[in-house]
Amino acid sequence: MNQNNTANNNQYSIAQLGHPVLRKIATRVEDIPSPESQQLIEHMMLAVAQAGGVGIAAPQIHHSKRMFIMCSKPNARYPDAPLMKPTAIINPEVLYFSKETEKDWEGCLSVPSMRGLVPRHKQIAVRYFNQQGKEQQKELTGFIARIFQHELDHLNGLTFIDQLTSSQDLISEVEWYRQFSK
Ligand code: NI
Repeated sequence: MNQNNTANNNQYSIAQLGHPVLRKIATRVEDIPSPESQQLIEHMMLAVAQAGGVGIAAPQIHHSKRMFIMCSKPNARYPDAPLMKPTAIINPEVLYFSKETEKDWEGCLSVPSMRGLVPRHKQIAVRYFNQQGKEQQKELTGFIARIFQHELDHLNGLTFIDQLTSSQDLISEVEWYRQFSK
């Protein structure tokens, strides 16, 4: 998920909608402490920071592995976004979804210049491994739960466009700014 679709970067090429890597089911990470896995985490951290995003998944930098970064922080677009330390999420699973869903705007570094009003479960319980390979279990709500669901979709070959309930919920970023930014 991104905050700044216009920030293309030179160092990391981000797979764009239509690239086959975004449609693959990513494979589990078997060796989290390995230099390969640790380096991939570092690359994702750098790529998402460079792009000004709130999350990025490994397939977006052309590695079809089950890991993503969440790095929510408040900004003009998401003034109520909680501040969190960039966190690596590895081999994630959702243990529980609340029945209640809510729609909110999302963007994606792989879907430039567009915004979608995407329904997501308000609360989820999740299990994953952290960068040190330690199992974590958490309950997430609101915006953080939204980022988690958006990034998990990337590991299953989906983008936010696949979750829209109406094509009318997809708008240009220019229009989004015109209508919704303060
Ligand atoms: Ni995305």
